[in-house]
Amino acid sequence: MTFLISRSGLRLRSLIPFAVVVALSTPAFAANPIAGRYQAVLGDCQGCHGENLAGGRALETPFGRILAPNITPDKETGIGNYSLQDFALAMRRGVAPGGRRLYPAMPYPYYAHMNDHNISLLWDYLQTVKPVRKKVEVNQLRFPFNIRVLMRGWNKLFFNPVPTGNRNKSAEWNRGAYLVNGPAHCGACHSPKNAFGADKGQLTGASLQGWFAPDLTSETNAGLGSWTAGDIAEYLKKGRNRYSLASGPMAEAVENSTSMMRDADLAAIAVYLKDLPPSKGNGGGATGMEAQMKAGALAYDISCAACHGRDGKGSALFPPLAGNASIRQARADTIVRIVLAGGKAAATPLAPTGPGMPSFGWRLNDEKVANILTYVRNNWGNQAPAVSPETVKRIRSELHSGS
Ligand code: HEC
Ligand code: HEC
Ligand code: HEC
Repeated sequence: MTFLISRSGLRLRSLIPFAVVVALSTPAFAANPIAGRYQAVLGDCQGCHGENLAGGRALETPFGRILAPNITPDKETGIGNYSLQDFALAMRRGVAPGGRRLYPAMPYPYYAHMNDHNISLLWDYLQTVKPVRKKVEVNQLRFPFNIRVLMRGWNKLFFNPVPTGNRNKSAEWNRGAYLVNGPAHCGACHSPKNAFGADKGQLTGASLQGWFAPDLTSETNAGLGSWTAGDIAEYLKKGRNRYSLASGPMAEAVENSTSMMRDADLAAIAVYLKDLPPSKGNGGGATGMEAQMKAGALAYDISCAACHGRDGKGSALFPPLAGNASIRQARADTIVRIVLAGGKAAATPLAPTGPGMPSFGWRLNDEKVANILTYVRNNWGNQAPAVSPETVKRIRSELHSGS
């Protein structure tokens, strides 16, 4: 095929969109065997462009807010005037018709890995979507980030395709590498970013708007070192496993995307993640926090033990806090947020009722939450830096500002 830029065997060295946070939840795709629809599942188009792909969902980034546009075939407000060639350029180069530069909040640095065949399957599927007339005011970024041509420079600096395949690895590993770094754009949330919103460090964990997307490397304390490949695949399929439960942005990724992926693809992702070189970990447990630990133990027994157990092991309904990697991340944003605001785990076809975690923000002050979480992060074999009342305060105010 000649309509596309040839890029066989290319991949991006973990390039990251500005930041990705989607605040609302959408229903999952109905299971559908159509190949193009499966491409949309892999890429989680609905997660940002909305259930009917007519757009309007807001992504909060450190540079302001950007809305996902209407990508239904409507000619006036959607992409009804696109050709396949236009589509391929937008998806893989971040350049829309007329040379308009897209922001990497649209994960084109990842979709750049998709080959011609998969791009045209996806295109065929988008043609079957019902056109919706709905104008979306996409660019609500702050000056100067709202100037699109700046993205030309961003692309020069950070859009830097590097081969991803590895001939010495199995076909399964290569499929996993493609999915993680390509359409499934796991690094968009899980890789740390530099000041320009581009990636530094692969899948070693990153903060995003009051959540922390954990370290996915094979590091044993903060990473997935103690998970088997089966544990990883189960988590992605059901939104939960014996170690953890998916909430927040990950619950959405599971509901819209990973729970609908084929088992063989989930197994491939797991094989690839298990082979990632270990990160530097979370910096280890803090010292000199005896007072925090003692106060935290008391408060934990009163407020938390009823569900999570005095031994931190949880139960069939409540996740364990002992040996749970999301507890031991370098930054405690996710767990602070869950304690303050409560949480709802993912609901998937195989695990339909997501249990809920009550909110404690109205009951526990910043210091108490910091004590409890420092205790939880450094008890039952867990080890991670202490949580300060200032961190709790910051996340409390982010929650109040609605992000
Ligand atoms: C993480 C959120 C996110 C995901 C996932 C996502 N998009 Fe986007 N997309 C955006 C945002 C934000 C923009 C607007 C970028 C801009 O205008 O600079 C956009 C823009 C686009 C455009 C350009 C529309 C135009 O002409 O302005 C197309 C086409 C598109 N997306 C298709 C897709 C497809 C197909 C998928 C699934 C494979 C997808 N997107 C997944 C966030 C996302
Ligand atoms: C929209 C952002 C986002 C995307 C995209 C995303 N994740 Fe996550 N992920 C998160 C967040 C946030 C958490 C923490 C959720 C929690 O603790 O409940 C998480 C948790 C996880 C966990 C649990 C780790 C642990 O230690 O408990 C795994 C495994 C995981 N993600 C794998 C993936 C894979 C594989 C992909 C790509 C297919 C992916 N994620 C895509 C945001 C994301
Ligand atoms: C009424 C039962 C209940 C109580 C009490 C409770 N929790 Fe939870 N907790 C849950 C449920 C259910 C979940 C899973 C839902 C989710 O992850 O959003 C959960 C999830 C969590 C998580 C996230 C685990 C993960 O794998 O992502 C943390 C951290 C947590 N609780 C800490 C606490 C702390 C600290 C307290 C005391 C201040 C507490 N919980 C009190 C039921 C409870």
